[in-house]
Amino acid sequence: MRDHFEVRDQDAAGRIGELEVPRAGVTVETPALLPVINPHLQTIPPAEIEAEFGAEILITNGYIFYNSDDYRDRALDEGLHDLLDFSGAIMTDSGSFQLAEYGDISVDTPEILQFQHDIGSDIGTPVDIPTPPDVSREQAEEELAATQKALETAEGVDVGEMLVNAPVQGSTYPDLRESAGSHAAGTDLDVFPVGAVVPLMNDYRYDDMVDAVAAAKRGLGPAAPVHLFGAGHPMMFALAVAMGCDLFDSAAYALYARDDRYLTVRGTEQLADLDYLPCSCPVCTDHDPDEIRESDDDHREYLLAKHNLHITYEELRRVKQALRTGNLLELVDERARSHPAMLDGYRALLDHADQLEETDPTTKDAFFHTSAESSRRPEVLRHHQRLDRLAVDGQSVLLTEGENNRRFDDTWRLVPPFGPFPRHLSKTYPLNAQVPERLSREAYETAADGVTRLVELNPDVAFTVGHFSWPESALDQLPEGVDTINLDEEDGPGPESQEENPAGEEREQ
Ligand code: GUN
Ligand code: ZN
Repeated sequence: MRDHFEVRDQDAAGRIGELEVPRAGVTVETPALLPVINPHLQTIPPAEIEAEFGAEILITNGYIFYNSDDYRDRALDEGLHDLLDFSGAIMTDSGSFQLAEYGDISVDTPEILQFQHDIGSDIGTPVDIPTPPDVSREQAEEELAATQKALETAEGVDVGEMLVNAPVQGSTYPDLRESAGSHAAGTDLDVFPVGAVVPLMNDYRYDDMVDAVAAAKRGLGPAAPVHLFGAGHPMMFALAVAMGCDLFDSAAYALYARDDRYLTVRGTEQLADLDYLPCSCPVCTDHDPDEIRESDDDHREYLLAKHNLHITYEELRRVKQALRTGNLLELVDERARSHPAMLDGYRALLDHADQLEETDPTTKDAFFHTSAESSRRPEVLRHHQRLDRLAVDGQSVLLTEGENNRRFDDTWRLVPPFGPFPRHLSKTYPLNAQVPERLSREAYETAADGVTRLVELNPDVAFTVGHFSWPESALDQLPEGVDTINLDEEDGPGPESQEENPAGEEREQ
């Protein structure tokens, strides 16, 4: 990996970064959207995308130019930047997608990389093999070997300052994705697209997509700029950014427009079904649904593509701001409610909480506990892991949702989903979380896991749990030998108490 990428801010595995693209003479802020430009079908001119949306980078397919009587010579003569009329960075694909769709293409890696260089691409792509999901292990291994060979060939092609993509394949085999990631990171190539995830997204398999990306990221490591190839639906940006994807390309804005479909962050609507436009972009403030429906085909497609692109950039800005504020996971949680498959994606993301924890900042603005899934966030996992750093004072310790009690040598607070912690940490992140009064069963069970860990770390201490009517499932999870007091049932001071109330009667939050 050559060094063109710098991470500025992090949240979970997500980051705001800067990708230096030397041939274009620009630095692109990531996460970045690359609108897909198809010279044959383009609805919104690239110059307009640059001027109106502030696009810093776009992607087009080098193979389309290579194979086109209309465009091949023009691209070679004028260069892509003049031909498309775009001054930012231009990434080109190699025709691998055509390879996957049609089974054959008439070009190899040295030829198409040289061509991409010659038409002025800033980031080129070798001919990788996008292995579909669920193929046999044998096929996945064979095709991955061919992809890795293409990357090694690409290393040997002299492309000057042009950056080169190193796609990561491996189908739905996490171990292959991981080893593909470490192989790619070991080349001297520059940008690392996770490939062949389009079929997963088309089938709403966001959980499998998360597992593929998480595995690729384990191999690539945190320094690699990662592109999620073919991911353009704004609904999944928060999820994909939280996993550590830095670049997205959207053909969706144009493809959906051609199909009379209207993108929202909660999914896709048919224009025919809309009585209202739930958006305040210029298209949606200037038109009502009937006006768009009644426009001629080209204009309708143009208007829908514009709206689709507005909503896409808007969501990317929202994701970046959430990341900067430190509440990206709250946004992922929110987006997970728009489709059951997105909830599967979020739950799969949380299966990788240990991986997210490695880069998640230790302190942020505030932790909002917004759903049952919040209990599985990396901050909670980290608290449990770090219980071994906290010294327990004395032989008898009360862990309580209520007040201090001097009958015990020490009193710790007990807050679901985190579990126990010393009082002096109450105001530190994430233990100062905003937690609802009415918690899910999971939150109590996770707190019980925290108690279990503390008990295991301090086998000689006698622990008592003071709780407000925890569910049986959580109490059953507590280790043998831990006493419990239901504070809702306590009605007076215990015999040795020097305080008003033995284990507390007030909830502190
Ligand atoms: N576009 C979408 N998926 C892929 C992929 O796996 N490889 C390449 N080269 N382009 C893609
Ligand atoms: Zn709109």
